[in-house]
Amino acid sequence: MKSQDELKQAAAAAAFAYVRERLDERSVIGIGTGSTANRFIDLLAGVRARVTATVASSEASAARLRGHGLPVFDLNVVDGIDIYVDGADEANAALQLIKGGGAALTREKIVAAVAREFVCIADESKFVPVLGGFPLPVEVIPMARSHVARELVKLGGNPVYRQGVTTDNGNIILDVYDFALPEPLETEAAINNIVGVVTNGIFAHRPADLLLLAGANGVRELRA
Ligand code: 5RP
Repeated sequence: MKSQDELKQAAAAAAFAYVRERLDERSVIGIGTGSTANRFIDLLAGVRARVTATVASSEASAARLRGHGLPVFDLNVVDGIDIYVDGADEANAALQLIKGGGAALTREKIVAAVAREFVCIADESKFVPVLGGFPLPVEVIPMARSHVARELVKLGGNPVYRQGVTTDNGNIILDVYDFALPEPLETEAAINNIVGVVTNGIFAHRPADLLLLAGANGVRELRA
């Protein structure tokens, strides 16, 4: 049986093959955050001469890209993003996701919103019938922490302050436990409506376009 690390590597390799086929000198590649995205970055380094521009979804990914000699641009200076590759904490059959385990959800959501195509890479343990087994990350302006926590309790969740974590945007994370998400579109909007929330880790209004899901029998390509 393959380990989770091997499956993450297989998903990253499938995304690399997918991107390499589509890459030209004008391509701008959006880069995700986390251990699966890191594997994709490391593979991209092998074709660095063909990579003109990347936009990173976190300072950690930007540093890793630069460490490989890959060009990283601010989102505001590129015309768009052709393809965005990122991992997820959970995915359902509609390719709606929970993201933010690495606290990068806001920049990830921005890059996903701009990208023409969003390719999600994950091992099959992340594929679930209903989102919400993974505690939902919510990025919050620090002074609003208690207010937002009370509002999340009213929505039915159990928010827990992620100790010792400051996001790249200078904010804090509340992880919402015991929060099944049968209606991700509605819940994404409801949480984002709470004053003090920057964004939450439900990617339902902008789901992935393609999920490359690595399992024991290879990598499956799922489209919604
Ligand atoms: C970071 C994320 C990651 O994509 C998510 O946490 C998955 O990480 P990994 O690939 O390490 O399992 O959303 O904010």
